[in-house]
Amino acid sequence: MRHGGLLRFAGWAVIGLFLAVSAPARADGLVQADVLYNGYYQSVLGDCSGCHTKAGGALLAGGDPIETPFGTIVPPNITPDVETGIGRWSLEDFRGAMHRGIGRGGKRLYPAMPYPYYALMPQRDVDALWTWLQTVPPVSNAVEANLLPFPFNEREAMAGWNEINFRPGPFQRDPDRSDQWNRGAYLVRGPGHCAACHSPKNVTGGDVADRYLQGALLQGWFAPEITGDAWRGLGGWSEEEIVAYLATGTSGRAVASGPMREVIEASTSKMKNDDLRAIATYLKSLAGSDGARPTPVAADNPRMVAGGAVYRDNCAACHGTDGDGARNLIPALAGSAAVQQEMTDTLARVVIEGVQGASSDKAPTAPAMPALGWRLSDAEVADVLTYIRNSWGNAAAEVEARSVEDVRAKLK
Ligand code: HEC
Ligand code: HEC
Ligand code: HEC
Repeated sequence: MRHGGLLRFAGWAVIGLFLAVSAPARADGLVQADVLYNGYYQSVLGDCSGCHTKAGGALLAGGDPIETPFGTIVPPNITPDVETGIGRWSLEDFRGAMHRGIGRGGKRLYPAMPYPYYALMPQRDVDALWTWLQTVPPVSNAVEANLLPFPFNEREAMAGWNEINFRPGPFQRDPDRSDQWNRGAYLVRGPGHCAACHSPKNVTGGDVADRYLQGALLQGWFAPEITGDAWRGLGGWSEEEIVAYLATGTSGRAVASGPMREVIEASTSKMKNDDLRAIATYLKSLAGSDGARPTPVAADNPRMVAGGAVYRDNCAACHGTDGDGARNLIPALAGSAAVQQEMTDTLARVVIEGVQGASSDKAPTAPAMPALGWRLSDAEVADVLTYIRNSWGNAAAEVEARSVEDVRAKLK
């Protein structure tokens, strides 16, 4: 779905072309090149391509449908095409979309477009992004964004949504914290829109402020808690491990899959190292859920015994008898926050249908987890998950066969 490499190539090709064409006005050209580079970089920070570019499709010419609890919405064509893109938009229209969720002609946008986060971006960066967008090749591709059923198809309802959930920018610095912390806070809360996936949602689909980044379920994947919490969050990760994960999709602790893999490929793997370090500093500073760690299910519990047998036959060859994996290739299950999450949908899904790790310029070979659903019953998957959640120092609730059955049904 995401085309980070293509995005970057197009960004540079266009900047080169621009400089060649504007050679006589060299001084202006250089100023403009700075703006264009900044604009391109803003598109990386905001992961525009991740949603607005379809798998195998032209850059920003419209994305894959997004399933929300309220219905389906499709990221539209935002190339400068006059008929089907945003070729008729003015800079003012664009600022309205990014800062207030109000597009051309006063059209209210749905928050599936992450404007509640982009609202924190300084106008200078939004304007640079606009300048860069003008250089993206126009593509004719008509997209009907609003496939929501009544009453959610009424855009005016978003005025009420904003009333409840929207806080206008700009970003407020915390003067008591370091520059690095503030930069990280800005990137996570602003353009990076990490909370869009990692924060639990209220009934209107807005972020629950006091459970910030404490984990949420989306489109069949669980985005885990990413605060500094020692048990469920990133408390046990070093800053270097967080940076490595965001840059390459692997760290000694986890290998990214699903939607996070796409975020890494199109966005975080292309961020500057200093920015990744700032993000790590900020995330680790957050207190998080501070949940009580449960007592592990006893090793002689029949489900643990059955799960241990499934593990030895199907998993240990890769993840190790002690659950310690193989650094950067196969994630450790011992001490893994992902394995001990409250919601087990992702875990069941990973075992049933396997998963392909992220590939990025910084770590091109993506390891893969094979699909094992064809040879394991729902009860066996539930047992082996219970086993890995309660072995080697891990502790988390048992997984029921019923919930595995639900996940399997959804995957069909
Ligand atoms: C999480 C997915 C997602 C990301 C990331 C995203 N968008 Fe969007 N965007 C959407 C959706 C969905 C819509 C349609 C909203 C609607 O119709 O109400 C949209 C609408 C828009 C529109 C309005 C277009 C129109 O014709 O009305 C603009 C402009 C836009 N996005 C620009 C951007 C830019 C620039 C970025 C990167 C900084 C970005 N988007 C990142 C999902 C996304
Ligand atoms: C489109 C949804 C989405 C967005 C946006 C997103 N994430 Fe994630 N993230 C996920 C999912 C899903 C996982 C779980 C991946 C897995 O199980 O392999 C994840 C996993 C992670 C992990 C690993 C946690 C662990 O315990 O294994 C980190 C760290 C992380 N994300 C950081 C971020 C940061 C920082 C941002 C913002 C720059 C971000 N994510 C934005 C969906 C998202
Ligand atoms: C052929 C090697 C192999 C086998 C066999 C295997 N795995 Fe994996 N597993 C992997 C790799 C590689 C990944 C990382 C893939 C990714 O996330 O992109 C992974 C990922 C996972 C994850 C996700 C961890 C995280 O941090 O998100 C879990 C959970 C998991 N495996 C459990 C199991 C269980 C349980 C079994 C046995 C039923 C098993 N695996 C068998 C190689 C294997």
